[in-house]
Amino acid sequence: MRIGIYPGSFDPLTYGHLDIIERARTLGDKLIVAVAKNSAKKALFAVDERIDIITNCCKDINNNLDVVSFNGLLVDFCKENDISFIVRGIRSVTDFEYEKSMASINRRLAPKIETIFLMARDENYFISSNLVREIAGYHGDISSLVPQFVVKKIQEKISSAE
Ligand code: PNS
Repeated sequence: MRIGIYPGSFDPLTYGHLDIIERARTLGDKLIVAVAKNSAKKALFAVDERIDIITNCCKDINNNLDVVSFNGLLVDFCKENDISFIVRGIRSVTDFEYEKSMASINRRLAPKIETIFLMARDENYFISSNLVREIAGYHGDISSLVPQFVVKKIQEKISSAE
């Protein structure tokens, strides 16, 4: 059984993430979407809320998909769960530079775990969770960037903070 992992912050899940999930789940027998607990970034959604959002938005493709959180080093989580490859999406040269370092570090720490990069689709290359949070913070229209469920959750989050 070949298990892949798609790790990230997913704060929040975007159409770019969803596309990578749909494509990555065909690469192995099972895909684990893993929300990092120890991200240094200031989060809009709590980790449990992000898991709930991803689970809800992936409910039609859940037969070989798990959504979990992880703490600590990604490669340690991979070793503990028999994960053989890491999937990351790339949108730009800037992403590439960062991803290249991360893949190299992970390979140094765990040489048997491969990193696989999937290029973002043309229609998604500019979508980022950071921009979604910023636009939503100014009450802008994010409906073409994230699933409707995420729009609803962000609106609830923002109005409860105001
Ligand atoms: O969506 P992001 O924020 O770009 O995801 C980055 C993430 C969470 C995949 C990365 O920061 C990570 O793997 N964190 C876990 C800690 C770790 O293993 N760090 C060493 C590799 S850089």
